[in-house]
Amino acid sequence: MKRTPVSTALGISYPVLQAGLPWVSNPELVAAVSNAGGLGVLHPTSGFEPGGDPVADLHAVVRHVQRLTQKPFGVSFHLPHPQIEQLIEAAAQEGINIAITYGGSPALYTGALKDHGMTVIHQITTVRHARGAEAQGVDMVIAEGFEGGGLRGADKVSTMVLVPQVVGSIAIPVIASGGIVDSRGYVAAAALGAMGVQMGSRFVATKECISHQIYKTAMVAAIDSGTVVVGGDKWPTRILKQGLAMQMKESGLDSGDDPAAWEQELGIDRTRAAFIDGDFESGIAYTGAGAGLISEILTVQEVFKDLVDGSHSLARKLV
Ligand SMILES: Cc1cc2nc3c(=O)[nH]c(=O)nc-3n(C[C@H](O)[C@H](O)[C@H](O)COP(=O)(O)O)c2cc1C
Repeated sequence: MKRTPVSTALGISYPVLQAGLPWVSNPELVAAVSNAGGLGVLHPTSGFEPGGDPVADLHAVVRHVQRLTQKPFGVSFHLPHPQIEQLIEAAAQEGINIAITYGGSPALYTGALKDHGMTVIHQITTVRHARGAEAQGVDMVIAEGFEGGGLRGADKVSTMVLVPQVVGSIAIPVIASGGIVDSRGYVAAAALGAMGVQMGSRFVATKECISHQIYKTAMVAAIDSGTVVVGGDKWPTRILKQGLAMQMKESGLDSGDDPAAWEQELGIDRTRAAFIDGDFESGIAYTGAGAGLISEILTVQEVFKDLVDGSHSLARKLV
């Protein structure tokens, strides 16, 4: 992708965002992505133990990234977080000017984020939500298809059909996400009308990511059918087919209508054991279906080299 309104607005060289991932968006990963020309994104849990003070942790982790890069980076905000207002305040105090929001309505906090001078990018999974987010004044949306890792949209719309419909429905820039792991996905996203991409799973399987080697290796070993979606119709959640995940698959785990049930069975407390300790018996590993396309643990720089060089040669083949 050439320079797009996404890269221009965010002050980055390539319109490639690293998804803000609980526990594993460690400062070294975030800084490596930003230093490679993309946008690294911190998650307030990045690199911390559970049970700490998320606001103090966010201050510390932002300062850590600032020591590792002069380039722009963002912070991911889970909108239903009980301390969301303090987290926004903390990010603003540290000079963060790019916010990625998810998991709730953009009606409540977009104004507050913009009052702090932040560019707001909201994650959506349907055209209806994209229109709603645009009406609330967000600057860009990330259209998240069903292929991606972790919690997915209840309507289960795939990236291939979601992105062009969202692009055709709103005027603000659309960033494609879900199943994008290499230059083929990057070029395909551009062809669908996206002005950037967001990638999660690919960045977990990099040398700079703090995720456990067992998790990275399992991702590399995964084939096309290596992930499973559990959680029921309301809270479909894509995880690697391993250990506890297989029991959930067999029991047909369905969190029903209750967000608390989802949080307990599939929320981020359940993920830490797998992400950080490589323990698939008590933890689950959010992973996108694109893991079947990941054949090596790369450095972040190598991921970007493939995206940039690979997309040039693909573009030459296509025209
Ligand atoms: C390790 C990991 C953790 C994630 N955690 C969350 C999460 O807590 N909430 C959420 O809405 N999405 C979560 N996601 C989804 C990402 O934000 C993003 O949509 C997804 O990674 C994109 O698809 P991809 O994995 O195919 O690149 C997670 C994804 C991964 C791989």
